[in-house]
Amino acid sequence: MNHGYTYQSALAASDVIHWRIEDIIGGDKRLDFSKPFMPESFARVESLSFLNDNEKRALNQIRGNAYLCIFGLVEEFILPFVLDHARQQLQSDDYRTRALLQFAGEEAKHIQLFKRFRKDFEEGFGTSCAVIGPPEAVASAILAHGPLGVALTTLHIEWMVQRHYVDSIRDDQDLDPQFKSLLKYHWIEEVQHAKLDTLMVEALAGGRSEEQIMQAVEEYIEIGGFIDGGLKQQVEFDLEAFTRATDRELNEAEEQQFREVQLQANRWTYLGTGMTHEKVLETLENLTPKARQRIESIAPAFC
Ligand SMILES: [Fe+2]
Ligand SMILES: [Fe+2]
Repeated sequence: MNHGYTYQSALAASDVIHWRIEDIIGGDKRLDFSKPFMPESFARVESLSFLNDNEKRALNQIRGNAYLCIFGLVEEFILPFVLDHARQQLQSDDYRTRALLQFAGEEAKHIQLFKRFRKDFEEGFGTSCAVIGPPEAVASAILAHGPLGVALTTLHIEWMVQRHYVDSIRDDQDLDPQFKSLLKYHWIEEVQHAKLDTLMVEALAGGRSEEQIMQAVEEYIEIGGFIDGGLKQQVEFDLEAFTRATDRELNEAEEQQFREVQLQANRWTYLGTGMTHEKVLETLENLTPKARQRIESIAPAFC
């Protein structure tokens, strides 16, 4: 492995970066509902040409709210997973223990931050938007899989956050600055998590045969299928929220197009951006080239 990631360097970086929720939200730091929250590459509202500008912005913001909720959901399974992983070898390496506990602490903070933003969204948007869940049920469904499959899912999610911010959010000057700041602060702590995930995957894969590794890759794919089922449901919730928020009744053909475009938009946002991330593919390849090939063979359906 040539990545050079270590528990000690992840811990040192995290100590420097550390921020507080109060630095990001509260007081005059509020969402601006006259602006979009999500970059167009994820929201994909422009191709729904039957919507006017206000309707496109409302849908974009509904997608932004779902983003807060879906990250809240996934972080609720990452937190216990990292704690369990840390607990197994508390005495082996002090940097490992501290880096993993810091990771868990940051994830708990992120869960709280996403909740705070959701509260502001609910107060400002004016229409309640349903979201998939509840988080505990999603977490227990995911954690029912073997630890390496779960670790690969975590690796996917945290590299995905890197890609979202760097490729699509950082240089987008149209986004609401408050929503963008949430994504920025989340991103800077997740950089360390993605590196620690790589170390967790390597530790969990140690001593496994190729067959056992491929079994874990299948579990990662199964978890992806479970998330995909949730995304289909989320598109229905978003359509319903959109109709209530805008009073716009779509005809059958428009609804059909809405579902198709938005499902693919969701798949790209939460699945494709992780499955095609070069760092995820490199880690898979290091386990066995077959693992990389397997994911590359199915990824196009989610892009
Ligand atoms: Fe996070
Ligand atoms: Fe994280």
